[in-house]
Amino acid sequence: MKPCECLAAAFLVASAALAVATPAQATGTLVAPSTAASSAPRPVRFAAAPASGGTLALILAGDLADATKTLPAALGAAVRDGAAAAGFEGRPEQTLTLVNAAGHARIRVYGAETRLGPARLQELGGRIGQDTREDRGPVSVMAAGVAADGVDAAVELATGFGLGAYRFDRYKTEGRRTPPADPATFVSADGAASEARFRAEGVHLVEAVTLARDLISEPANVIYPESFVARVREAFRGVQGVSLEVLDEAAMQRLGMGAILSVGQGSRRPARIMVVRYRGAGDAAPVALVGKGITFDSGGISIKPAAGMWRMKYDMSGAARVMAATLATARRGAAVNVTAIAALAENMPDGNATRPGDVVRSMSGKTIEIINTDAEGRVVLADANQLAARERPAAIVNMATLTGSAAQALGDQYAALFARDEALGRRIEAAAEASGDAVWRLPLNPAYARLVRSDIADVRNSTEGAGPGASLGAHFIEAFTPADIPWAHLDIAGVAWRTTATQGVDPQGASAWGVRLLHELVKGFERR
Ligand code: BES
Ligand code: MN
Ligand code: ZN
Repeated sequence: MKPCECLAAAFLVASAALAVATPAQATGTLVAPSTAASSAPRPVRFAAAPASGGTLALILAGDLADATKTLPAALGAAVRDGAAAAGFEGRPEQTLTLVNAAGHARIRVYGAETRLGPARLQELGGRIGQDTREDRGPVSVMAAGVAADGVDAAVELATGFGLGAYRFDRYKTEGRRTPPADPATFVSADGAASEARFRAEGVHLVEAVTLARDLISEPANVIYPESFVARVREAFRGVQGVSLEVLDEAAMQRLGMGAILSVGQGSRRPARIMVVRYRGAGDAAPVALVGKGITFDSGGISIKPAAGMWRMKYDMSGAARVMAATLATARRGAAVNVTAIAALAENMPDGNATRPGDVVRSMSGKTIEIINTDAEGRVVLADANQLAARERPAAIVNMATLTGSAAQALGDQYAALFARDEALGRRIEAAAEASGDAVWRLPLNPAYARLVRSDIADVRNSTEGAGPGASLGAHFIEAFTPADIPWAHLDIAGVAWRTTATQGVDPQGASAWGVRLLHELVKGFERR
């Protein structure tokens, strides 16, 4: 044992009261996450009528006169008068705010389409969650003139509301705008039935997305491989059907995982692989969800420019999202088997860091020439996918903030989807459609596969100069994923972070993208 490991071990014992020990070498941050919490969301309830006072959020669609006729007389009249005065016609994206009307301090009116699917309902709910976050008093949400497509509108609105109301404010010691504790009431003809539906699924999605966003938003001095593991372990505590396995660096050495080890070797924070197995369907083949978990990507020796580097704390987004989707699935008690794998490492420059030109051996036995140490996500996934393959899974799906190229091509509205297996690709497209987490196909092509061959090793992790960057990353991972297993990869570099609040369910910062999609995809594998 090296001296630093002895120190780390001693520190671990000394600070047993803390959830995770800070590495002995990392001192002086003074922001132990155990001392801070983000402000709590409003409690959610369902009832046949809105609460009195506070805010009423009203979704209105179709003919305004007809829609307002279905409302209580005073409310209908107030909305008609206000709409006429402001030129509000109830068109989608149109909004109207009335102050001190029909017994409410505020009435916020949202125009919408007359037929609304679950994704659009969640988006509207999210917008309301954002808009009403700091409103004093209770919030009530109802819709008029709207037909929900085969779903319970109140439940979808409540789910979106929970997603939109999120803030990461635990490090603010002044000027924190805590949301009032008054409840949010969602109006439903059968409140008890809506409540039961929300408790069966929606609430788990909200809590799962909250876990993912917390992990992603935390700075890299707080979330590193070991503390990621500790937080996720805590989130799964007591959930039925779940078992956890964590590989430390010694275990990775034994398995021959030279790829992920090479990425983590420049950091004081040792790499980890976290495996969460949820078994709800006997001996059925599991779906393997494998996420990139770079807790900070400085680029390593191929160091990134300073501008925007701070955001690379989000480079563990894939890992956070696969864990979150699995948490929602397990909390629901779904009849399906899922194996979630987080490939966790910190990519740092150091005297011991991997150099450009180094050659490393992966768990598969294939050798990798490291052309650019900043193309590290594909390298950790090479070993993680080999590990996933040992589960004999029905499918392997990767989720990774892999390339700037995907973000440049598709912006922040679509993740790039690569599918080697057409049936799996279609399943993911269907899950994207149903969940609202949009994807766009990018190509796998043998000509691009040839570009990741190395002159001196089996494959190289990057090419010199330009090229189809997102496809090259996908092909590299493909080379480490056994051909008999259906495989797909989602490059989420563009959708994982919102520079501004672009969608209802996403305030600025870590997005909800992908948790709902993976949850929906896994549903399709449930035993019936
Ligand atoms: N984590 C980044 C991907 C990334 C870059 C996301 C910029 C968002 C914005 C990844 O590890 C990376 O650095 N990729 C390189 C690959 C290149 C060196 C082949 C990239 O995309 O520039
Ligand atoms: Mn990188
Ligand atoms: Zn990265």
